[in-house]
Amino acid sequence: MNHSHVLTMMGGSAPAHRGIVLFSERELAQMRRVGRLAAQLLQHLEPLVQPGVTTQELNDEAARWTEAHGAISAPLGYAPAGLPPFPGSICTSVNEVVCHGIPSPKQVLRSGDIINLDVTPILDGYHGDTSKTFWVGQPSPLARKLVEVTEACLTRGIAEIKPGARIGDIGAAIQEYAEAQGFSVVRDMVGHGVGRQFHTEPEIPHYGQRGTGLKLRPGMVFTVEPMINAGKPGIKILGDRWTTVTRDRQLSAQFEHTVAVTETGVEILTLP
Ligand code: MF3
Ligand code: CO
Ligand code: CO
Repeated sequence: MNHSHVLTMMGGSAPAHRGIVLFSERELAQMRRVGRLAAQLLQHLEPLVQPGVTTQELNDEAARWTEAHGAISAPLGYAPAGLPPFPGSICTSVNEVVCHGIPSPKQVLRSGDIINLDVTPILDGYHGDTSKTFWVGQPSPLARKLVEVTEACLTRGIAEIKPGARIGDIGAAIQEYAEAQGFSVVRDMVGHGVGRQFHTEPEIPHYGQRGTGLKLRPGMVFTVEPMINAGKPGIKILGDRWTTVTRDRQLSAQFEHTVAVTETGVEILTLP
């Protein structure tokens, strides 16, 4: 039985509400399970992020660990809207790569690099989506600041979430802090509803204005995943149609959690 119900089914509804599901307690329990597994996968990978390792080796260990825990790697073969199937089991986004970096046996990490690992296991049909950016060996002062500010952006965005708050409040908090620190927010990639599907409504921009956008309600589940650039916000998608880089080739960092709106506030589902 599926206890999800569509928030607003038809006629007379605000279009922004269409298709957004509220999760039952039973489904939230499933999302907690897969969310914890996703967070534990990142925890498992973190010590492997060292100078000399390849992004393929990180990918392969993630794939092995995911399978060993009875889950499926959602990214592998994922092919939305006419895109070629994603060839990796995780995304490995190094330095100027904003997101959707493809693991490669030719890509060797070096001290001073930063790398985002974005993992999405599927457990019993539910997706848990989380990512972190790590530095490899010794970071430059700029790289360290960018990574620390980006994690704080995620924390500040999540802190806005409670029933009655609006989606714009999340982005506003992120944008205010990122720009105050001299960085910029990627506009072209957003957070998203997640559950039985990888990407659903609503979209969660990481910029915006307080008091605007859809009102949050208990039972909504979505990601917050700010991508913060050291330089300008512009991005470019490479010829492989996945790898997304900063137009100015300056550094970019990202952190992501899957969260649920509760009766009183927010629950982070992707904690170990
Ligand atoms: N995990 C990414 C997100 O946060 C999506 C990756 S799609 C893939 O939405 F195909 F590249 F894996
Ligand atoms: Co996501
Ligand atoms: Co992700």
